[in-house]
Amino acid sequence: MPTRNLERWFAGFSKLKREERLSILLEIGALQEDDIEYLRAGGLKDGSFAESFIENAIGYFELPLGIATNFRIDGRDYVIPMAVEETSIIAAASKTARWVRDCGSIRTETRGEHIIGQIQCGNVADWDRFHSRLLAMKAHFIALANRESAASLVRRGGGVNDLQIRAVERADGGTMGVIHVLLDPRDAMGANIINQVCEFLKPHIEECTGETVTMCILSNLVDTKLAFAEVTLSDVDPELALRIEQASKFGEQDPYRAATNNKGVLNGIDAVVVATGNDWRAVEAGVHAYAARDGRYRSITRWRVVGRELVGTLEAPLVVGTVGGVTKLHPTASMCLRMLGVGSANELARVAAAVGLVQNLGALRALTTVGIIEGHMKLHARNLSLGAGARGEEMPLLQRRLEEILRVNKRLSQSMAVELLQEIRAAAPGQ
Ligand code: MEV
Repeated sequence: MPTRNLERWFAGFSKLKREERLSILLEIGALQEDDIEYLRAGGLKDGSFAESFIENAIGYFELPLGIATNFRIDGRDYVIPMAVEETSIIAAASKTARWVRDCGSIRTETRGEHIIGQIQCGNVADWDRFHSRLLAMKAHFIALANRESAASLVRRGGGVNDLQIRAVERADGGTMGVIHVLLDPRDAMGANIINQVCEFLKPHIEECTGETVTMCILSNLVDTKLAFAEVTLSDVDPELALRIEQASKFGEQDPYRAATNNKGVLNGIDAVVVATGNDWRAVEAGVHAYAARDGRYRSITRWRVVGRELVGTLEAPLVVGTVGGVTKLHPTASMCLRMLGVGSANELARVAAAVGLVQNLGALRALTTVGIIEGHMKLHARNLSLGAGARGEEMPLLQRRLEEILRVNKRLSQSMAVELLQEIRAAAPGQ
């Protein structure tokens, strides 16, 4: 993947025709000839892929796939694939990334390496025996799991690194014993391997403790492996910076606002996660659980005016993989991963975090200035025009009329588009 400056290639990218965009992506090495053929042919067509993954397959559900431009993350330019249907998301991400590129920077990191597997003993009869026997056998169990269940992962530098014993209170006053298996999955998302390791340990734990294991499964609340992104902007209008800080504080304190704030962040994150063939339900579950970790649901982003700068941060578990699952098997996902050019799952998580934070900045800027309708509906005018049945020359005419109405009335609807199209056709009969 190119490490060069992609700025000039993406100037005016959104105004180009699809073929011209594909040519640029080919020229900068983000796509290969056969990727272009594949995209021209409309993507995945081979029904056997669906058959091999799910039961009762009848076809594919196609989402629009686009490119977010202008992202420079940790000093490197990325071509960011996003699979998403909401009209304004890629436009807002690219526009806001341009602002950050011109006036600031994006820094990212990952914090921690371990995913979590849970082994539950639903009703521990003798807690002291359970606890002391597990402690005594802990090192042995880690070694056993690494040798017998996670050997291939260990060869890649990962594996089980810790077992933690937790007591969880039961409603009837009894105690559940919950063992957390901490495993470094390297570049896999790790769901299969962690579940496998937990199930492997189950009979050993039962034998050693004399207690019954009720269930084993990973946890999506992966607070032991977090993605972090920080955006620093200088030369921001102080009034705007303050408004963004105020908007941020709203989401930090009020769960009603936090839910919408985080939805906007996930607009960006999910689109990258989906495009790269990752499990977006796992990411969503992890983000929301992490957002509520202190008992109140809060935003996962935070913006503050620091001196003459506006600084935003995001921290959340974004557990994704660049190997395993459908990441390499789904041709669109594997093409997107190549286009992104990430060298590891951690890098992918960092990029997704950066996109989420920039998406949030774009939303907060719009919300605290012109409002969301203007940007959203302008793009929506195109969808409404299509939905009304506009063709060829009618499209730009109808869009322009809808945009004029939007400016004055601050609202648009499908029925307005249909009426306007009728007027346009009546004024130009025979077309
Ligand atoms: C809409 O998809 C997302 C926003 O509601 C996010 C936000 O309110 O921060 C605009």
